[in-house]
Amino acid sequence: NDTLRTVGTERGFDVGAAVSAAPLRSDPGYKKTLRREFNTITAENALKMGPLRPSRHTYDFHDADAVVDFGRANDMRVRAHTLVWHNQTPEWFQEWDYTDDQLEAFLRDHVHTVAGRYRDKVDTWDVVNEAVADDGSMRETVWYDAMGEEYLDKAFQWASEVTDADLFYNDYGADGINEKSDAIYDLLERLLDRGVPIDGVGLQMHALHEKPDPESVAENIRRFQDLGLDVEITEMDVAYLPEDDPGDEAARHELQAEFYRDVVEACLETGCDTVVVWGVRDSDSWIPTWFDELTDDPLLFDAGNDPKPAYDAVKEALASD
Ligand code: G3I
Repeated sequence: NDTLRTVGTERGFDVGAAVSAAPLRSDPGYKKTLRREFNTITAENALKMGPLRPSRHTYDFHDADAVVDFGRANDMRVRAHTLVWHNQTPEWFQEWDYTDDQLEAFLRDHVHTVAGRYRDKVDTWDVVNEAVADDGSMRETVWYDAMGEEYLDKAFQWASEVTDADLFYNDYGADGINEKSDAIYDLLERLLDRGVPIDGVGLQMHALHEKPDPESVAENIRRFQDLGLDVEITEMDVAYLPEDDPGDEAARHELQAEFYRDVVEACLETGCDTVVVWGVRDSDSWIPTWFDELTDDPLLFDAGNDPKPAYDAVKEALASD
């Protein structure tokens, strides 16, 4: 029987899911679905700085190794997420009274150690995540405050010194053409002009409060490709506000399936070859804990590991010419 994994692999397409270390240890149904349906995984949290850095001079690779090893053992492409982000930094870090030089040295060591550890195990890194604010200005993060825009140049350079993985910039709310994706386009163009080793851009595709027009997504993908960058859909999920929710579950699932199909088709049509969904089952999703107002079934599988209409839509899109 065809699965997402077989139809994807058949046409050279990577279908991925974000995974957590805990259910990999304790939930056989979760692992079975992952192995059968996906040829790509990304760590939802385990490779972020918070979970990796219990204190300033130590690392804890327990969960990160579990996720990366699962991917390798099951012949999956591993998309690693993420070396530099303003969010999910460790608690001790938020109280640390550093100098700019100390912060830079800390980040360099972090990038060298983490990307270096997985040198032969990771295929792609989200090196920098969410550096641009929603209005298109540079986001004022600790990294930006200490190093200016060049923190991106440095992070990509440091990563390139220790890994052969493809190096990506990743962001949300920039899936179609809009103010934010314009700003990201300009930023990445500047990085490329400065010779920064960047290979691609990840469009997260959290289709939540607003959904981008699929034609605008295709146009957006093309302009980044024209810069010489690979483009991947990296964190897709699809939820609805009450006013956009058709009301009954079956109708909502059809609407959701249509949007998943449109995005996969935009991807196929432009030669983007990767779609990663942000979790396996609805019950694994981050959305219910973060947004009360949104519908709570944003993914391809229900809590019982059964495929939803969105699953069939993605599979059909991947199976068609
Ligand atoms: O595991 C700890 C647990 O030990 C602790 O006791 C508990 C108390 O807060 O927190 C648990 O960690 C939580 C973690 O998810 C694992 O469940 C964190 O608090 C929580 O903040 C964290 O949320 C993650 C979020 O990033 C952090 O900003 C979500 O799972 C994750 O899906 C989400 O992913 C991000 C991408 O990295 C970047 N793009 C947007 C996307 C959605 O926000």
